Parts: sequence; structure tokens; C-alpha cells
Amino acid sequence: MKKNAISRRNALKMMGAFCASTLAACTGSSTTKSESEPLEKYKRLIFFFSATGNSLYIAKELSGADGTLMSIPQEIHRENPVYEAEEIGIVCPIYCFIPPTIVQEFIKRSTFKADYIFCVGTYGANSTIFPEYTSQLAKDNGFEMNYINTIRMVDTYLPYYDMDVERAQDKHIPENLAAIKASINSRENYIRPVNDQEKMLCEGYYRMSGRDRVKPTLTRSEKIVFSTDTCIGCGICNSVCPHGSWKIVDGKSIAEGECENCLACVHNCPTKSISIIPTPPEPEEPNRNSRYRNPNVRVGEIISANSQINYNNKG
Ligand SMILES: Cc1cc2nc3c(=O)[nH]c(=O)nc-3n(C[C@H](O)[C@H](O)[C@H](O)COP(=O)(O)O)c2cc1C
Repeated sequence: MKKNAISRRNALKMMGAFCASTLAACTGSSTTKSESEPLEKYKRLIFFFSATGNSLYIAKELSGADGTLMSIPQEIHRENPVYEAEEIGIVCPIYCFIPPTIVQEFIKRSTFKADYIFCVGTYGANSTIFPEYTSQLAKDNGFEMNYINTIRMVDTYLPYYDMDVERAQDKHIPENLAAIKASINSRENYIRPVNDQEKMLCEGYYRMSGRDRVKPTLTRSEKIVFSTDTCIGCGICNSVCPHGSWKIVDGKSIAEGECENCLACVHNCPTKSISIIPTPPEPEEPNRNSRYRNPNVRVGEIISANSQINYNNKG
């Protein structure tokens, strides 16, 4: 090796440190409003949560030239926010057929004022009750959704899916996205209907898994993920975590804290050093060498959106 060359291991560590230091100065995505700015009236305001980029990609596509993106893991820190825009959208992954806990919490504690409110859930295999559940969630919190739809993408739930197999499937994303875009741009009123078969599938899953019906994936990171011997302590796992639930001890990442089960840490680890703790009745992950991030989204965008470095000192 040349005298001044740095190893891949050190380069990755430096990247982790760089991400952490730049994040101390900037919060949220590049178009996100900072805490001190007033919440003026926007044209199209889109709130998103994304662990592996699918929902961020859809949010970016739907935001268009006039849209503004805001990250839910950043906005969740505002006290009783009131958001006003001509159109407001929420884009998020679907976890156990419903919105992730952090998204539900954000909806509960926010006030939305808009002429048109839409929601798009990204999912991998079955979205089942998501439209019905989300519509009711909005009603319970005093507003109506005008449009709720779902779009099928790579399924990132590693206990059930091999990312290599998922990536190879054609899920007709461009066509489906174009249809959703057209509907939203023409302010169509539509909540995707949920049929009896989908309801039965959902019921069966909840009975089999014994998961909570409202917060099915909220857990503790130390219960579901761990770093392996190849961990270099770069800290990217903590930077992409919407709860900042990793800490570095003796140069290694240790999982500890609240967890959405989003698997951002596992998928975005540059050395593939994070694995899932098998939790029966769920199977062991079929391919622990296969990880995923949406090809249109950079790891830096996930970090900007999810990092909690400004809110806790664990990193
Ligand atoms: C904890 C967890 C639960 C999931 N549950 C479902 C589900 O119920 N149905 C489904 O089709 N996909 C499910 N998925 C797949 C994701 O919804 C899907 O891959 C999504 O596009 C990921 O979005 P992101 O890249 O923005 O994080 C789940 C993924 C995770 C991590």
C-alpha cells in the first residue's frame, strides 16, 4: 500500500465521523425547514419517513418542482405543530399493514390545514388494511384524507425476503407511480378499497404473530439487531436510526434503545456487519449478505432525514 493511502476500513470510519459532524449543523433533508423558521403556507408539503429509501424516492417524485419535503423523524420534535399548505402529503413504508409507530405519533400530535391531503404507503408484498387504517387514524385526529393509495416496491423485511430475489422482480413501479402522480396532481378523491381476503390475511398474521395491533413493530433495538465481529464502529447505524438507538463502545456499535424495527441500521451498514436476532415464529433471514437501499437515494439523504444526533448524545 502507498504511504499516504488509507484503508477501506478507515475511509468508512472517516465517512461515519464526517456524517456525524455535518449533522450537528444541519437537520433534516436539504429542503427541510429548520426549527426557527415560521411554518408559512406551502404549495405542496410532503412529510416522509424512510429507512431504506423507497418512501423517500416516492416522496421526492411526488414533491415535484414546487414541493417541500419534511422528514418525520425531525418534525416529530416540534411541540404541537400546525402545518399549512395548499396540499399536504404523507409518504411512509407499511409495517405490519399499517403506518410505522413514528408516523402514527406524528399524525396524532400535528394539525394539518390544507385543501387536499394525501397519503401513499410503500410496501413489498401485501398492504392489506393500510388505506382503511390510515383513513380512520386521520378521522380520529380530526381531519379527512382525500387520497390514500399504496405502491409495491422491494420488500425490505429481511426475516422473510432475500434482497437479491426482491431486486430482480419487476413490480411495475414506473407505471404505478405515474398513475399515482396523475391522480394526486388532479386532486382525485380516492381511498384504495380493502377487500375481505386482505382483511383475513391481516387478521391471520396478527393472530399468528401476537403483535400489538397499533404499535406492532415498536421494540428495543437490542432485542432485534446486533453488530458482528466485522463492525468497524463507523456509527452509520446510529446516524440512520430514527431513534438514535446505537452507541459506540470500544470501537464497536452496540444496539440500545427504542426501535421502529425499520432495519435502516442493517441495510445501510457499509460493511454488512449488522444481523437480525431471530424472533420465532418469524424465520431467520434467508440471506444475510444481501442488503438494500433504493438506487435513487443516497445514504447521506437517509442520514439527513433520520439522524437524531441533534437530539441525543448517544452517537
Ligand atoms: C418491520 C417491517 C415491516 C414490514 N411490513 C410489511 C407489510 O406488512 N407488508 C408489506 O407488503 N411490506 C412490509 N414491509 C416492507 C416495507 O413496507 C417496504 O419494503 C417499504 O417500501 C420500505 O420503505 P423504505 O425503503 O422507505 O423504508 C415491512 C418492512 C419492515 C422493515
